[in-house]
Amino acid sequence: MKFFVDTADLNEIKDLAATGLLDGVTTNPSLVAKSGHSNFIDLIKDICAIVSGPVSAEVAATDFDTMMAEGLYLSKIAKNIAVKVPLTPAGLKVCKVLSDQGTQVNVTLCFSAAQAILAAKAGATFVSPFVGRLDDIGESGMQLIADICEIYRAYPNFKTEVLVASVRSPMHVVEAAQLGAHVATIPPNVIRQLFTHPLTDKGLAQFVTDWAKTGQKILPDGVQPLKTRA
Ligand code: G3P
Repeated sequence: MKFFVDTADLNEIKDLAATGLLDGVTTNPSLVAKSGHSNFIDLIKDICAIVSGPVSAEVAATDFDTMMAEGLYLSKIAKNIAVKVPLTPAGLKVCKVLSDQGTQVNVTLCFSAAQAILAAKAGATFVSPFVGRLDDIGESGMQLIADICEIYRAYPNFKTEVLVASVRSPMHVVEAAQLGAHVATIPPNVIRQLFTHPLTDKGLAQFVTDWAKTGQKILPDGVQPLKTRA
């Protein structure tokens, strides 16, 4: 399963990319506004230089002609751009044209299996079902992921990857993985939660204490930790 980070915060992206576990980045207009960056194009360029995997950059327009021009412009920023378009008739039309030209496209704001079928037929690289927002209105986000995965598996000619979005907790990530979703795009705080367990902290503290009692060290004299090596 691939992990994308769902943020437009450059410091967060740099920090998480350093873990070696980041496969891509997704942004959206709300995340760009939250980041406070005043130049979207420069921001996307910077993100593409940090992460080699797909970086989703979303069009701002909603009409076909402008979305198409924006999509073409964004696609030229870097090789790893995935143009993000909304799941509307015009958005899917843009998706088809760009996908046919070899550009990666992420179709966003997917809330039904029917919409996901359309995205696959339009040749999307990724479809982004928003699980948290469905949970918010009393529906089951994970049921939607199960439905889409089942449908896509039945049609091997559908090459679209299921990119689980609007992830709110580690359980969303685990359940998405159990269902075989290809990608989860995860907010930075939730990625950090994935690493933690109180028994890991407790166990490590015990190991550190017990090791100190042995009076031993692993590194011979003169061998320094990586950061302090000349
Ligand atoms: O990438 C878009 C999606 O992840 C938004 O999440 O939390 O605003 O519903 P959220």
